[in-house]
Amino acid sequence: MKISVVGSGYVGLVTGTCFAETGVTVTCVDIDTEKIENLKRGIIPIFEPGLEAMVHKNVEKGRLFFTTNLPESINEAEAVFIAVGTPPDEDGSADLKYVLGVAAEVGKNMEHYMVIVTKSTVPIGTAEKVRLAIKTELDKRGVKIPFDVASNPEFLKEGAAIDDFLKPDRIVIGTDSDEAVKLMNRLYKPFLLNGHPIIFMDIPSAELTKYAANAMLATRISFMNDIANLCEIVGADVNMVRKGIGSDSRIGNKFIYPGAGYGGSCFPKDVKALIKTSIEKGHPLELMQAVENVNDSQKEVIFKKIYTHFNGNLKGKRFGMWGLSFKPNTDDMREAPALVVIAKLIEAGATVKAYDPAAMHETQRRIGNVIEYATDQYDAALDIDALILMTEWQEFRVINFKVLAKVMKSKIIFDGRNIYEPEEMKENGFAYYSIGRKPIN
Ligand SMILES: NC(=O)c1ccc[n+]([C@@H]2O[C@H](COP(=O)([O-])OP(=O)(O)OC[C@H]3O[C@@H](n4cnc5c(N)ncnc54)[C@H](O)[C@@H]3O)[C@@H](O)[C@H]2O)c1
Repeated sequence: MKISVVGSGYVGLVTGTCFAETGVTVTCVDIDTEKIENLKRGIIPIFEPGLEAMVHKNVEKGRLFFTTNLPESINEAEAVFIAVGTPPDEDGSADLKYVLGVAAEVGKNMEHYMVIVTKSTVPIGTAEKVRLAIKTELDKRGVKIPFDVASNPEFLKEGAAIDDFLKPDRIVIGTDSDEAVKLMNRLYKPFLLNGHPIIFMDIPSAELTKYAANAMLATRISFMNDIANLCEIVGADVNMVRKGIGSDSRIGNKFIYPGAGYGGSCFPKDVKALIKTSIEKGHPLELMQAVENVNDSQKEVIFKKIYTHFNGNLKGKRFGMWGLSFKPNTDDMREAPALVVIAKLIEAGATVKAYDPAAMHETQRRIGNVIEYATDQYDAALDIDALILMTEWQEFRVINFKVLAKVMKSKIIFDGRNIYEPEEMKENGFAYYSIGRKPIN
């Protein structure tokens, strides 16, 4: 079986590689020539645990190919997965120009029946727009080639993408075609050996499922952040509250960790797009607007704590930052809360030296040398007025307090992810600020 995956970013590259792993012949397509040239040379454009080895293996086995040539990639392909970006438009809605551009290209070049699958996160009605874009091109060509569309939203998590794809909790497919159902069953069967379901549904339901899933997760995070801020005011400990509610099986303990706000390529943009859709359809989702507002202010919470501690006098202060990526195990800096804190500190006249195990290159690409980049976490702490933890990478969890105390000018830590114990900080003589817990100062 041959398929084409268009867009070779986080989702496309993982999707293509994992399908190749099951024996499917996959061609990954991208318009970014440099990305494709690098992939052909075995250089992976993103940091994703396990991906590099799997790409190399499948290339060697002759099942995984890379190209910028979409027409060639759909030759003999039974399905085309569209996995290009859907960034927010100025008004917050998902920008569909890349998705529909690919659909038009497919329509211009297809010569046989195929299923065109949207894997990108797209608003309700997009699969129909894809269908129309393809049909318009076929009509222009004066040919009648049958095809079907399907919506197959992706739920993988960056940092655990390979595992999520190979062992998904569920596969969601929206389609109105029996042919497409058969094809998707064949493609996905190898991933469902763990007994988890493939759920077929109508197209709008599949499209909305993705937004509803991300909106629910974002809601849990904003809810917990709001509770954390209240904890600080009333003298409660959010960790205790979290444990107290998380052990209720109706609530569960996932996605209720307070922090410095959610970021990444999905939650912020998908919450925005869902709000936009709801307004357009005359049913504004007020809850989601509140979720977004809470998150926007949460991204500034750590800065506010720093500002208060230093009585607003940040000019000339040196800060060390541990972690830049929006979450651990990725180099993705899209909407990372660290960027907000950095911007505020620089604006206030402070300097920042940061260390991140994977995202320094990407940060430098985005913001250049407005901050310094450290060689390791202790280098980032050298001579600083305070340390700020923004991403809970495993390697930051166990600190050598003796080394840290020796290199830091002042023993102050702002922990945006609550990974340290206040008691331990106290014993080691550090001032310690975290989220939703009493400060040690
Ligand atoms: N990143 C995630 O964790 C994640 C998870 C689930 C769903 N999604 C969704 O999947 C989609 C892709 O996200 P991503 O993170 O992989 O994006 P990405 O930016 O990493 O990759 C998108 C790729 O598409 C390429 N591209 C753009 N236009 C193209 C065209 N016309 N032809 C070929 N390639 C083209 C870009 O060059 C880029 O390499 C988005 O809709 C996103 O919301 C992302």
